[in-house]
Amino acid sequence: MASRDYSERDVEEFFDQTLQNYLSFWDSDGVLHTGYFAAGNEGDYQAAAQHTSAVLAAEMMIDGSSRVLDAGSGCGNFLLYLAREYGCSGEGLDLSEKRVKFAMDRLTAAPGLRITFRHGSVTNMPYQAGAFTHVVSQDSLCLVPDKPRSHAEIARVLAPGGIFAFSDFLQPKEHVSERARRHVFDRVRWNGGYSLIGYQEALDSCGFEILLARNLRSHIRQTYRVLGETAVERAKTVPGQSARDWMLSFAESCREMQVAIDDEEFGWGIFVARKRSA
Ligand SMILES: C[S@@+](CC[C@H](N)C(=O)[O-])C[C@H]1O[C@@H](n2cnc3c(N)ncnc32)[C@H](O)[C@@H]1O
Repeated sequence: MASRDYSERDVEEFFDQTLQNYLSFWDSDGVLHTGYFAAGNEGDYQAAAQHTSAVLAAEMMIDGSSRVLDAGSGCGNFLLYLAREYGCSGEGLDLSEKRVKFAMDRLTAAPGLRITFRHGSVTNMPYQAGAFTHVVSQDSLCLVPDKPRSHAEIARVLAPGGIFAFSDFLQPKEHVSERARRHVFDRVRWNGGYSLIGYQEALDSCGFEILLARNLRSHIRQTYRVLGETAVERAKTVPGQSARDWMLSFAESCREMQVAIDDEEFGWGIFVARKRSA
């Protein structure tokens, strides 16, 4: 099936326009990524989302001397977490001006951290070559229409030997059904992405050595199961028809996302790669 070819402008508008809805339902701090569920805690999305950040951080060899770029930083949560936990410096870059403003407002409430946030695209980054020791990202790079371009930019701004650690949506099958297109891809203005193997090949061709590639489909399935059930419950009490409609439509998409995951049309993984020295 042909891709819809969403542009960066479409993606930017979507993430600007949906900020308030996601803040009121998904997470009031603006977290918007897949949860990594710990055994025995399968019902707590917030804890799982926090755990995703901890899992990635533990794999990326970060310390107080690290200079970190968060590519697609959204409301700033991952970089705030890394700066607080590890004392690193860094910058978050995001296409949505509203999310960048939200992140900057959070930063004013957290003085002393050596980080900032900037509006811009990962396909054209305002940084010098080799400016960062680490590039991180959570569930953002899949949304870039020109992925070879963003990978090349990430390789450019990383110092030789630098670490690229991220989570992202996967598209295990090349062709997807109209149902998955509507509920999964069109829902977030996603043109589509790589399989687990395809992602590693793309990174390899941009000068990265793969250190870790983990298929985590059960975690994204659990994320949408928990979020969908929460949306159904909230729809019973939330005031206002349009908020109720949004919750119910989101819950329906969550059910369809689980079908798409079972059908190998949609997935999720984490990756750690090192920029080759020469
Ligand atoms: C699913 S959200 C994830 C946000 C954040 N990483 C988090 O974990 O909460 C995807 C984010 O990617 C950003 N994004 C999409 N395309 C981008 C691009 N070309 N350059 C920078 N940011 C982009 C969106 O604006 C959005 O904030």
